[in-house]
Amino acid sequence: FRIVSTRLIQNAKFISRSFSSTTKLNAKVTVCGASGGIGQPLSLLLKLNSRISHLALYDIVHSPGIAADLSHISTKAMVTGHLGPDQLRAAIEGSDVVVIPAGVPRKPGMTRDDLFNTNATIVRDLADAVAQYSPKAIICIISNPVNSTVPIASEVFKKRGTYDPNRIFGVSTLDVELDVNQVNCPVVGGHSGVTIVPLISQCTPPVSFPQEDRDKLTKRIQNAGTEVVEAKAGAGSATLSMAFAGARFTDSMLQALAGEEGIVECAFVRSDETEAKYFSTPLLLGKNGLDKNLGLGKILDYELNLIKAAMPELKKNIQKGEDFILKG
Ligand code: NAI
Repeated sequence: FRIVSTRLIQNAKFISRSFSSTTKLNAKVTVCGASGGIGQPLSLLLKLNSRISHLALYDIVHSPGIAADLSHISTKAMVTGHLGPDQLRAAIEGSDVVVIPAGVPRKPGMTRDDLFNTNATIVRDLADAVAQYSPKAIICIISNPVNSTVPIASEVFKKRGTYDPNRIFGVSTLDVELDVNQVNCPVVGGHSGVTIVPLISQCTPPVSFPQEDRDKLTKRIQNAGTEVVEAKAGAGSATLSMAFAGARFTDSMLQALAGEEGIVECAFVRSDETEAKYFSTPLLLGKNGLDKNLGLGKILDYELNLIKAAMPELKKNIQKGEDFILKG
């Protein structure tokens, strides 16, 4: 869960970009899990994105209805609905970007890892379809536990012989509204509990905190997703904010694919930055997905210790994902 860019200004830019008519790319974007709490508002936001000419909505329930509803919005993208495994191929074929928010969400008291059993299978099967029918597509995985679902998708692509680590992203960019209006704070590591590491020392504009406050803020950020799950008291997890973060991430990706330069987002990817095989850091996006990993940069000892503390859990989650495909 993440702050990557908690900037109202930038969010406002994203909204105006979404409505603007300038576009260099007529992209096909597929949403898998389009009928869900995240999938529906995400699809709505993507319908407003002028870079998208075809929005394909896949789910095992209700997707034709969601597609019919969205098709009445007078923006450019053609919307198609695809229901169930027989229609998965048509949803995915020719796609430039596949966004995956399919799967069960957390209830109060659950960790992201508790979702593993159900969501691992769902992500495996969806990734397998992408690996076969649109192997060059960029995959953006929202389904939790992201620390394991990204390794799962990667192993599936390896099995199909179509693996490109620069094209598989775990979306860890859920915006958190701080009371500071325009803060951009990179959040690195993984995407659950202690594996979430905000680099407050790298905030722009720079912020300064007494150690006690830094500690409190760090814990609050690590726990932000769980806060929403508890506030919703069983009725779901963060859906609207995640839809916004997912649409923003997708828009950044579409800009980069269209050749715009200097597009940077944090995401959970295959990485050599630390001893964990997958790690989230700021990434420069380009025409082929991940262009350059910008790494951790200069960090405080306090932050280095948070990363060290994250390692055992992160490595365990990654291994669990890999084992699911390699041994499962
Ligand atoms: P939801 O239960 O409202 O929606 C999930 C959707 O997936 C449903 O429409 C369901 O029919 C569909 N689905 C289930 N199996 C499928 C399959 N095999 N193929 C296609 N679609 C399938 O759940 P919600 O709230 O939308 O959350 C979705 C996922 O996103 C969960 O795993 C949740 O933990 C995760 N999440 C991730 C966040 C992040 O920061 N990366 C933040 C919040 C949630």
